[in-house]
Amino acid sequence: MKTIRTIEEMRDELKKVIGQSVGYVPTMGYLHEGHLSLVKRARKENDVVVMSIFVNPLQFGPNEDFERYPRDEARDKRLAEQHGVDLLFIPTVDVMYPNEMGIEMKVTKGTDVLCGRSRPGHFDGVATVLTKFFHIIQPDRAYFGLKDAQQFAVVNTLVSHFNFPIQLVGLPTVREEDGLAKSSRNVYLSEEERKEAKTLYEALKLGQKMVMDGEKDVDLIVQKVKTYITEHMNATIDYVEMLSYPELNEIKRVDEQVILAVAIYYKNARLIDNIILSPDGKQVETIIR
Ligand code: PAJ
Repeated sequence: MKTIRTIEEMRDELKKVIGQSVGYVPTMGYLHEGHLSLVKRARKENDVVVMSIFVNPLQFGPNEDFERYPRDEARDKRLAEQHGVDLLFIPTVDVMYPNEMGIEMKVTKGTDVLCGRSRPGHFDGVATVLTKFFHIIQPDRAYFGLKDAQQFAVVNTLVSHFNFPIQLVGLPTVREEDGLAKSSRNVYLSEEERKEAKTLYEALKLGQKMVMDGEKDVDLIVQKVKTYITEHMNATIDYVEMLSYPELNEIKRVDEQVILAVAIYYKNARLIDNIILSPDGKQVETIIR
């Protein structure tokens, strides 16, 4: 595995593998099994696997955790190499944003709901950095976790509306044994919070069961999920929403593919989770576009 820190070096390395397929896994580092599941899949499907590690300041709000976002480069390098990454791209902020940006990207579809509503500008930052990485790396396929399903939907719009010749692969959420979705941010949880955090997945499964049992009324499902969370967690609910997926339109009834998504705040952490369901309640775990 080669660790690369500049765009020029990245381009030189990619020139050496022209004609071979390139799979790309974008991350912000502090790798866990969720990230590594993307690498494993990329390793199976491509000749060359590129991973980027970049904590992108553009996608953090002024009161968010950019400064304290967990970082451990030595450990990340070891894990990336063990799982078969060929080129590990770790640019600095100055490499990615040497000048103040002279053009802004603004995501206008699917951002007035879920995390888009609670984190204004967040998806603009994601779209900007991925546009840059897609241009630099020019991958054939890019791998994302459906843990961040709204991000996957936005990237889908980016790739389709800006004609990137990239296949997108959305992969299942990797969870801890008790159901908590793996996340670099789980280190922010206190012992007590970590214990009750499994509630989120339980609440989603409760919603899924309602759909499986034939419930179609979105308001009713959302209400039940909210109540379950309030009764089992000492957290503040940011949102519980059920929307069409990947369009992210508001719906009244479960007649199409839907996402049931939750976000909660603790003092030092914000947790998100979701499940994507077909109208009969079966979980959709992988999406290729
Ligand atoms: P990051 O949070 O590091 O996540 C990188 C990728 O790993 C994303 O596609 C995310 O959905 C996936 N991922 C995270 N936790 C997962 C889990 N438990 N199971 C499966 N996949 C999981 O998402 C970002 O970084 C950034 O926004 C980025 C796309 C890199 C742009 O800056």
